[in-house]
Amino acid sequence: MEMEKLVSLCKRRGFLFQSSEIYGGINGFWDYGPLGVELKRNIKDAWWRDMVTGHDDLDTLPGAPSPFEMTGLDCTIIMHPQVWKCSGHYDLFHDYMVDCRESKGRYRYDQIKGRWVEAKGKKIFATAGSNSETPEVDIERQALKFFGMRSKNADELKWDGPLTSLTTLDSFEEVLAPDAKSLGTLTEPREFNLMFKTTIGALGGEADTAFLRPETAQGIFVNFKNVVDSSRVRVPFGIAQVGKSFRNEITPRNFTFRSREFEQMEIEFFCHPDSSQKWYMYWRDRRYKWYQEMGLDEKKLILREHTPEELAHYSIGTADIEYAFPFLPEGEYGELEGIAHRGDFDLRSHMEGKLDPDTKPMTVELNEDGKPKHRGSGKDLSYRDDITGERFVPHVIEPSAGADRATLAFLCEAYTEDEAPDDKGNMQTRVVMKFHPRIAPVKASIFPLVKKDGMPEMAKDIYRSLKKDWNVFYDEKGAVGRRYRRQDEAGTPFCITVDGQSMQDQTVTIRHRDTLEQWRVKADDLTSELRKLIG
Ligand code: GAP
Repeated sequence: MEMEKLVSLCKRRGFLFQSSEIYGGINGFWDYGPLGVELKRNIKDAWWRDMVTGHDDLDTLPGAPSPFEMTGLDCTIIMHPQVWKCSGHYDLFHDYMVDCRESKGRYRYDQIKGRWVEAKGKKIFATAGSNSETPEVDIERQALKFFGMRSKNADELKWDGPLTSLTTLDSFEEVLAPDAKSLGTLTEPREFNLMFKTTIGALGGEADTAFLRPETAQGIFVNFKNVVDSSRVRVPFGIAQVGKSFRNEITPRNFTFRSREFEQMEIEFFCHPDSSQKWYMYWRDRRYKWYQEMGLDEKKLILREHTPEELAHYSIGTADIEYAFPFLPEGEYGELEGIAHRGDFDLRSHMEGKLDPDTKPMTVELNEDGKPKHRGSGKDLSYRDDITGERFVPHVIEPSAGADRATLAFLCEAYTEDEAPDDKGNMQTRVVMKFHPRIAPVKASIFPLVKKDGMPEMAKDIYRSLKKDWNVFYDEKGAVGRRYRRQDEAGTPFCITVDGQSMQDQTVTIRHRDTLEQWRVKADDLTSELRKLIG
């Protein structure tokens, strides 16, 4: 599937729009249109239902070490700034970037790729930026321009070594930046914290600086004790949260894949240290299966365990669920969700301020006795098992998913072109969004075959009765084939048509979006029939 086709369908049919488009748009921000908002809401609702409200607290689920409980939270986007000190985000949540003094472009250091190339007795490192879809071609064009050569003489360029990252170079003197004409225009890499800053209150001094949360997880950690004390949950249990997160990404790209404002669906699962490895395996496998159950093709989905070098120092294991997004080169996958075994790192950090050893030192406030104040909250976030009497700091397993990335993956997966007969019986290419019925924005569309003989009245009655349970749509405009096509593009799994026979025997046809199969059911049985079909 070509990405351009999906992007254009998303705009044409109202799945996604660029934010503030009438002002030229704003990079890294996206709006969900009438169909998109339903799709994303259905994905978040399916996740919440499957992980939280539909969870059976009493039984041991397949693969789980024991029964467990699940509950939810909804925390604020702006939190006490100390939260981000203790979580490590204030000191460590950054990317390295380089600026080009000539073009004024800013690039993520690790995303500039280039090749050594020699011509006319000079050797340079020609580069392409992260937005380049064909880096080799762009690099050659850059090199030809630099050496003042024509493309017909491209074979006079002497290439040395493969495409490699800028991070492998010690000096930038011979580097031709992606949009520059001269060499050595890149600055040294600089840290760029990804948290958005804001100011609390009217005075606006440095002490009033706050941050938009870069993840929903921390709201859960700092409320761990509140949840334990206010609900009767016992370890092992999970707390789920869905909400907006913000990251000032240097290079937002690939449609909504890397945005600056996005939604996360996160679980922090608290368990006894002795069983945490088993719980890690459980969540990893369960979350991988969930995407398949919701319609992602197993062949395009991988569960990738991090190598020891990739792991954070406190992490015992992390796995990513990755999808073969069509904008990525063949064989490459993009992260949908990470499942991390975080040990007791987070609760301890908020308790004691125990930070990553690589962190820059925090300003340590001293008590009157000259001893450092608590860097964490100083609150006891350990847990006491009221049956065994044991006190411990629970280990955490964190399945952390992106609602926008999941939505994008389901959009990519759904986009299909096939052949179907038009109103005259001629085969035509049709675009059909094959969403799983649970996440489809509109579950059914109801059509009167013609606008007379009582058909619109009966169709409207059906529409009103189904509307009580689902988002359904009524359409009486144009030829019925055209109406089917419009619903195929919206991903509506079922079309219900009221025709002449309906007037005689009170039956209607249901047409299946994917198989094009049609069958008759009694109008009175539609609710139960659809319930079976949608699941
Ligand atoms: N609490 C852990 C955490 O936030 P993460 O891997 O940084 O981990 C989790 O983010 C998920 O959030 C990712 O797998 C992805 O689905 C989503 N996500 C992260 N950054 C994103 C961005 N800039 N745009 C869209 N989704 C993003």
